Amino acid sequence: MLDIKSLTKAFGRNTAVDAVSFTVDRPAMIGIIGRSGAGKSTLLRMLNRLTDATEGQIVFEGRDVTALKGADKRAWQSDCAMIFQQFNLVPRMDVVSNVLHGTLNRRSTLATMFNLYPEEDIHRAIDILDRLGIAEHAPKRAEALSGGQQQRVAIARAIMQQPKIVLADEPIASLDPMNAQLVMDDLRRIHEEDGRTVIANLHTLDTARRYCDRVIGMLHGRVVFDGTPAQLTTGVARDIYGADGSFSESSTSTDIASLDREYA
Ligand SMILES: Nc1ncnc2c1ncn2[C@@H]1O[C@H](COP(=O)(O)OP(=O)(O)OP(=O)(O)O)[C@@H](O)[C@H]1O
Ligand SMILES: [Mg+2]
Repeated sequence: MLDIKSLTKAFGRNTAVDAVSFTVDRPAMIGIIGRSGAGKSTLLRMLNRLTDATEGQIVFEGRDVTALKGADKRAWQSDCAMIFQQFNLVPRMDVVSNVLHGTLNRRSTLATMFNLYPEEDIHRAIDILDRLGIAEHAPKRAEALSGGQQQRVAIARAIMQQPKIVLADEPIASLDPMNAQLVMDDLRRIHEEDGRTVIANLHTLDTARRYCDRVIGMLHGRVVFDGTPAQLTTGVARDIYGADGSFSESSTSTDIASLDREYA
């Protein structure tokens, strides 16, 4: 369904993403790992067309989406909704309106200006919030919610777009372990129950191992590992994180694994 072919992004002389290729045949939960500057965010931003590729192709269900423009590009951006580390909500706007923003790509500017949302969209937004366990916060301003709750609003906004793919750039990096687990559980459910593909940049190995069916490791813009969590041995992890000593078990084996004990 998704075919990434030799995707490359150069910033001047710096090649941030270097001929990355991989295929997703069926809905999957994929974690992308790698040290800072490996090119993880740039890769996701190219997939979502937030930034243009220098070379290569993104083919989704047989259609090249690499160079789409205007309404076609916006439709693709709905098909692969993105979630960010810093939630990117409108802080002073209420939660439901933030979720309804997820339909913007498909609506007229005029309807948007006057906040005219169809009743069925409002019901759907509330249903999604309910499913994520935060419907009670619907009328509150987004800024009044905790980080974990805000990230779940961001997930609701993404789901509102009815995406085939959910892209998440370090979705739990700003959250405490408890909320990190809730958000990862939600992403997993969105994959399993809705059959959506989730591609998440993750900063800890344990999270990738625990939640993903497939892990892609990047180093210096290239894919250096693509396999199952079981294949991701400590030796492989050391390769992914580089041979200069920046990898250590203690810096990467954090947080979520210990939660079962803490919150059981
Ligand atoms: N807008 C930009 N202009 C110039 N260089 C950029 C830009 N965005 C990213 N880069 C460079 O591209 C490379 C990859 O950056 P990227 O943000 O994709 O890495 P990352 O793997 O997401 O890192 P982190 O784990 O710190 O988020 C880095 O060398 C970075 O400096
Ligand atoms: Mg990044």
